[in-house]
Amino acid sequence: MKAIDIRNKYLNFFEKHGHKVIPSSPLIPENDPSVLFTTAGMQPLVPYLMGEKHPEGTRLVDYQKCLRTNDIDEVGDNRHLTYFEMLGNWSLGDYFKEESIKMSYEFLTQELGIDPDKLSVTCFAGDEEVPRDTASAEIWKKMGIPEDRIYFFGKDNNWWIAGEEGPCGPDTEMFLDTGKPACSEHCDPSCDCGKYVEIWNNVFMEFYKTKDGGITKLKQRNVDTGLGLERMAMLLQGKKTPFEIELFAPIMDELAKLQKVDSIESRRIVTEHLRASIMIVADGGRPSNIDRGYILRRLIRRMTRHLNKLQVDLGELANLIELDIETLKEMYPYLVEKKDVIKQVIIEEKDKFVKTLDHGEKEFEKMINKAKQENKTVIDGYTMFKLYETYGFPPEITSDLAKEKGFTVDASEFDKLFKEHQEKSRLGSGQKFKGGLGEQNEQTIKYHTATHLLHKALQIVLGEHATQNGSNITVERLRFDFNHPQKMTPEEIKKVEDIVNEQIKRDLPVTCEEMTLEEARKSGAIGLFENKYGDKVKVYTIGDFSKEICGGPHVTHTGELGHFKIKKEESSSAGVRRIKAILE
Ligand code: SER
Repeated sequence: MKAIDIRNKYLNFFEKHGHKVIPSSPLIPENDPSVLFTTAGMQPLVPYLMGEKHPEGTRLVDYQKCLRTNDIDEVGDNRHLTYFEMLGNWSLGDYFKEESIKMSYEFLTQELGIDPDKLSVTCFAGDEEVPRDTASAEIWKKMGIPEDRIYFFGKDNNWWIAGEEGPCGPDTEMFLDTGKPACSEHCDPSCDCGKYVEIWNNVFMEFYKTKDGGITKLKQRNVDTGLGLERMAMLLQGKKTPFEIELFAPIMDELAKLQKVDSIESRRIVTEHLRASIMIVADGGRPSNIDRGYILRRLIRRMTRHLNKLQVDLGELANLIELDIETLKEMYPYLVEKKDVIKQVIIEEKDKFVKTLDHGEKEFEKMINKAKQENKTVIDGYTMFKLYETYGFPPEITSDLAKEKGFTVDASEFDKLFKEHQEKSRLGSGQKFKGGLGEQNEQTIKYHTATHLLHKALQIVLGEHATQNGSNITVERLRFDFNHPQKMTPEEIKKVEDIVNEQIKRDLPVTCEEMTLEEARKSGAIGLFENKYGDKVKVYTIGDFSKEICGGPHVTHTGELGHFKIKKEESSSAGVRRIKAILE
């Protein structure tokens, strides 16, 4: 069964069970500074898991584009992917364990035709905070899963939370036995030898973990399930790796034709990173030196390096992008329209990196000459690391070149520095998560409303082309990217500030209405019409000043905002300006 057929079967099945289909949110979260990318289906739905009413009701089903970069360095093995699609069904205070497990079982065995004898399940074992989930185990038994294939594990395995704070709860996970012999007598679904492959995770999200580590009950009991589409396609197609399914095989095969040196690992890295880069760029991501831009940069660099390793002519990149879009267009038709910009961004970044490599080689020469003068025969790890960090010069290239010149390298010192560096970036992204998934405090809500005022004011001062390109809010400031070809003049900036402050002084009421996308468009609402919230949307109206499609929440009156000030106006990328502004 092709991935698209699994997706369609899934959506139809849950629709039949009263769920409304909502489309994927973008890979780059809007108005959520706490995360770099959407890493799970729950992320865009956090406000609704916390109790806000979803315009489409209490039963939803979706297919969410996700990117997880924690294991980026593992890509190249036979299973890791950074980009994947997660199918999910959602109960927002509607059904709970019984119905959720029943539907999962029915979908797996009847719709996908999975042999029930190959299914094992795991449930939460309980601890001092939350009791053992015997309820789920009993339901599984009723479904026919024998006791010896129902396992209980602790928080490490059967508890789900994104980051350190937020909605969470025990989960029950489903595993398919691949038929591989057990690796030992202790082999069970918690073992990653490959015998048991996790296929679905149903989270019973009824708790909230607070900043101080305590656990409280949410207003409602939710269900959040996640089924990795590529992995399921792999299993149903009887393949051993996701790279063999129809979503990856064409690129893998093409690389095999183009390569002059064979490396399956490099082919997987190129295939995977190209996929992830295309999806990020299509959703508005651009390479840069920080945060998500840096992740994209790393993906493109690593892909380029491995194209070099395979000795594939880099001029082929344009064709590879075309082929990948062709492969994906049934799943993501919008990629076709974005083909030119995707090509432009990825190829430009590749070209930059090729220059970096050239530059790095020059620095490498200097370093070798210095080492010669000092009569050294070993290139120390610190120097290697500096080449890597400052010039993006890959350590394996340093190592190869050094060998050619009769030097050895201190790879262990490099590894140590590299690990420290990785640890730091991992902590960095962890903290981002901690910063508050779903953290909608008073200050961020104010900035959210101020962003609407700014958006409208920009359109008044600069023209209707000045539409939103990105938005990011922290407790300290708002950041707004918009389309505009040149730098704003000081007069224009002042005008925008004055307009926003005038609307604040008028203390306009902020109201919210639900309507269909079509009605919203007709009402003159601005905002992103693409890829959002499904058919019904919320439209926030600020007095007679602005009307914008948005998930909320917002303040009730603009008078609450205080004084608005633009701190910076700068270029964000070609044709896109960026404003940072504060409320004083
Ligand atoms: N949130 C859970 C996960 O990501 C289920 O969707 O696995």
